[in-house]
Amino acid sequence: MTDEPALDSARKPVPAGTPDADSAAAPWWTRAVVYQVYPRSFADSDGDGVGDLGGIRAKLGYLAELGVDAVWLSPVYPSPQHDNGYDIRDYQDIDPVFGSLAEFDALLAEAHERGIKIVMDLVVNHTSDEHDWFQESRSSRTNPRRDWYWWRPAAADGGPPNGWRSAFSGPAWTLDGATGEYYLHLFARQQPDLNWENAEVRRAVYAMMNWWLDRGVDGFRMDVINFIAKRVELVDGPRPSVDGGSPMGPQIHDYLQEMHREVFAGRGGEHLTVGEMPGVSVSDAVLFTDPARAEVDMIFQFEHVSLDQGEHKFHALPLSLPALKKSLSRWQDGLADTGWNSLYLNNHDQPRLVSRFGNDSEYRYESATLWALVLHLHRGTPYIYQGEEIGMTNVRFDSIDDYRDIESLNHFREAVQEFDRSPAAVLAGVHTMGRDNARTPMQWDASDNAGFTSGTPWIAANPNFPGINTVADRAGERSIFRFYQRLIALRHESPVVALGAFSMLEPEHEQLYAFTRTLGDETLLVVANASDAPLVGPLPVDVTGGDLVLGNYAGADGSGLRPWEARLYRL
Ligand code: NOJ
Repeated sequence: MTDEPALDSARKPVPAGTPDADSAAAPWWTRAVVYQVYPRSFADSDGDGVGDLGGIRAKLGYLAELGVDAVWLSPVYPSPQHDNGYDIRDYQDIDPVFGSLAEFDALLAEAHERGIKIVMDLVVNHTSDEHDWFQESRSSRTNPRRDWYWWRPAAADGGPPNGWRSAFSGPAWTLDGATGEYYLHLFARQQPDLNWENAEVRRAVYAMMNWWLDRGVDGFRMDVINFIAKRVELVDGPRPSVDGGSPMGPQIHDYLQEMHREVFAGRGGEHLTVGEMPGVSVSDAVLFTDPARAEVDMIFQFEHVSLDQGEHKFHALPLSLPALKKSLSRWQDGLADTGWNSLYLNNHDQPRLVSRFGNDSEYRYESATLWALVLHLHRGTPYIYQGEEIGMTNVRFDSIDDYRDIESLNHFREAVQEFDRSPAAVLAGVHTMGRDNARTPMQWDASDNAGFTSGTPWIAANPNFPGINTVADRAGERSIFRFYQRLIALRHESPVVALGAFSMLEPEHEQLYAFTRTLGDETLLVVANASDAPLVGPLPVDVTGGDLVLGNYAGADGSGLRPWEARLYRL
């Protein structure tokens, strides 16, 4: 395999009879691909070791070359950075480590000139404990902002009001000495939860969102947005455990509809809203994304990225391909008539795709491109996480001291100190599932620190950067970046990729991921061998007569599929 993979350069026009009118009327984000930038780790323009807005601006040409339609920026607001910006001190400014509002405006203007939209991260389930609102709230039990957060007296035994656990280890409640009450934090203790029951909180958030939209931003990715509504009846108990269920309360739909009315209605419908929603079902998602209900355009669900987790997220299990297909096809089918899917296998909270679900050594190119082809051919809006487009891999630092993520560090401390587990075993879980796998510096080139910074990076680069970087990838005969470029172009050009109906084939097959997409009289077929072993032909799916549109191996090789081979046919 030395030459470029197959691409149907003489691609046929969309057949007559395809409902072009419908596809033209569909929202822009059905034809779009979104690229997530994690600013700390993307590109550092001033040598302080932390990525920044100037760095992102300098790389807009790279993003334009890739062809993405929008960039989702992880948080850049002022923050003490306990959770890398997901703990916000001030919603209406830029953290000096990332730049200034003037630099943000310049980035936005230049992105727009290049036809790239900018989607902000909206983190309003919680603020930083350094936010003025919380500082006021904690100052006394009678402060007018007391009720902006969840304060409760201790339970009868002096412990927390209920048994909720923080996503970052330990109880979800911290006793605040100053006023002798507990406050709720579903994440770190430096991230107190806002009380959305209070209409003043909601109004303040909507005002802030309107301020960013007036500034020109193109939408919001909404952090754990389903948790803004709490199951209020559980806030006051019971202890020690709370049925293991989600804290999400049923008022979530009212809140999102109100947000839509107060923020998005009347703005022309051109914005993108994507709600991150752990623990929701397909039927919940239909309600959240039904355009007639005016809540959000799409959600990030977690089912498919939880299939390889055991008792907790650091306990990795092998992925079952039939389980993955079953899950993703349920979401495809469930949102086929009403609503819309977002499509992702990577983000700043997930290990690297090619290490997790592929083979990051012998078949790195093949498995990276296989998952790209499979994911981008599903129905929904695909998201690419920085570095995914060059097949960046997980990292294995030798010591826990080399890690920075609050979730991994808290887990390590709790597991080793409180549960007496062996440090080596806990570190192995961090190697496999930790979030810092996604957060090492973007690998631009083979120079020091992967070309990310001229200073000392806030987290070390993955030592494999001399071989895996944007320059090496694109200089190679087999470029993952160019494969993504083609997938993005295909979605732009081809209504069947954006809108075609999805149908899973061979759901029980252990190696083969196969499905069709159909729109009008046009059908696309994907066949992919998601394994290190060849899939000996003939395939259980008939590809005869199909035109090969895109594949990750050059030329054909009998009737089967080579390791991690993926092909897209037009039938
Ligand atoms: C989800 C974000 O993606 C994650 O990075 C963050 O730690 C939590 N929400 C808390 O904001």
